[in-house]
Amino acid sequence: AGTGPLSGKHVLVTAGPTHEPIDPVRYIANRSSGKQGFAIAAALAEAGARVTLVAGPVALPTPSGVTRIDVETARAMADAVAAALPADAAIMVAAVADWHVAAAAQKLKKGDAPPALALTPNPDILAGLAANQQRPRLLVGFAAETERVVEHATAKRTRKGADWIVANDVSGDVMGGDRNTVHLVTATGVEDWEPLPKADVARRLVQRIAVALAD
Ligand code: C5P
Repeated sequence: AGTGPLSGKHVLVTAGPTHEPIDPVRYIANRSSGKQGFAIAAALAEAGARVTLVAGPVALPTPSGVTRIDVETARAMADAVAAALPADAAIMVAAVADWHVAAAAQKLKKGDAPPALALTPNPDILAGLAANQQRPRLLVGFAAETERVVEHATAKRTRKGADWIVANDVSGDVMGGDRNTVHLVTATGVEDWEPLPKADVARRLVQRIAVALAD
């Protein structure tokens, strides 16, 4: 915590994918580099916030001034998020796997019959936070969409109980890249942001968060 517009505020960020083990050497995951979430955590810390970053498996250094908690699965991410409350704001950037399987204790052998994966839904961490007694005052979700981006994001904002959804069009080469084209969906409308480096998306979002938390 230092000086800056977010000094005295605690902000929770999730980032990266989750890995859902199938056996000791295999997993199910969503595609995510963690870059956008880590950039947001860095920008929040630069703005003076106390930042808790709950990170799935990614190959990224911890931004300076950020408290990082590493997790593997969605269930562990949900637990880490709950344990980090209370928070003034939560920015859920992680690409959480939607399902897990009952992991085998030993490596499955490819010579055996192909295993049938029985998928069980993971908790929705964002929707769970929205319904939590300790709901952060500002709750921001992300929506990676490949078509009808704003329409899907607008529906997601209401369905999940988030205040804002940052929608990004992932039909191009966003994944792992350094630039992002996003739309900020709030209760009052939609802002289309020009394509920006992920660090600039982060800084602009953090400015908006500072204004929202200053009210
Ligand atoms: O439903 P969808 O996965 O598209 O929603 C994306 C948003 O919800 C992101 O903010 C993501 O971090 C969050 N999410 C979550 N827990 C899940 C699935 C998504 O927090 N199990």
